[in-house]
Amino acid sequence: MSIQHTNSQGVEESNVQASVTALPPGVTVRGLRASYGRIEVLHGVDLEVPAGSVFALLGPNGAGKSTLLKVLSGRMRPTEGEVRIGDLELGRIPSEKLARQGICAIPEGRGIFPNLSVRENLRIWTYVGDVSMKDVEEQTYATFPVLKQRRRQLAGTMSGGEQQMLAISRALVTKPRLLLLDELSMGLAPLIVAELYELVGQLANQGMTVILVEQFVTTALAVADRAAIMVHGRVEQQGTPEAMAEAAHSIYLA
Ligand SMILES: Nc1ncnc2c1ncn2[C@@H]1O[C@H](COP(=O)(O)OP(=O)(O)OP(=O)(O)O)[C@@H](O)[C@H]1O
Ligand SMILES: [Mg+2]
Repeated sequence: MSIQHTNSQGVEESNVQASVTALPPGVTVRGLRASYGRIEVLHGVDLEVPAGSVFALLGPNGAGKSTLLKVLSGRMRPTEGEVRIGDLELGRIPSEKLARQGICAIPEGRGIFPNLSVRENLRIWTYVGDVSMKDVEEQTYATFPVLKQRRRQLAGTMSGGEQQMLAISRALVTKPRLLLLDELSMGLAPLIVAELYELVGQLANQGMTVILVEQFVTTALAVADRAAIMVHGRVEQQGTPEAMAEAAHSIYLA
């Protein structure tokens, strides 16, 4: 996707550099522990997410999936362990700088500002993404025409599906290198869920690493290249979607 300019030698170094840093990152997690107060909920998580993959994080309620995403997005500090996102070592970067590093988290229960209008929410994306308001609106409304009709409405008064469309539009316009999605499907009709995940698949094809947490195993594994199952604060197994579909049944769905 990157445009390469060539000089007389046929190579432009700064552009080569730019296209290298724009590659989606792999994510490596080693021995990660995290606690709420004195209660530890991640007991040594190990995870290997290949660059450019769609990675599904599965597991029963309370397993620690959302907590792991909070750590990956810099919203929570681990007590032990290491996290590498591409060539970044998490913990060395202040969390407020992570958006600038191309890491975008859409948390459980929608990452939008309910008391702002749809347009005001979109305007906030322009601050993190270095994109013009005109481009943001064009792209968003082209993908989700309903948001154009709702542009003056307070985001919190829209339907659940509309709010989730607005939340995911952030990834659409800011083009992060790493997208963290926590239960995109929450409270939504199956048809909307399918549409949103189709969009996630398209985003990943444009060169993005996606880690998604999802209750609906089949939905998640349909878009995933790799998957892991978390149980009680640890990664129990990771592997292909086919292998994890089987493992999910024997580990927690049964
Ligand atoms: N803010 C918090 N304060 C205290 N404990 C918390 C907090 N958030 C989560 N926990 C606890 O940490 C554990 C892991 O929670 P987490 O939200 O990460 O699980 P999850 O896998 O995302 O579950 P679910 O599928 O229900 O969303 C749970 O036992 C939960 O009760
Ligand atoms: Mg959760």
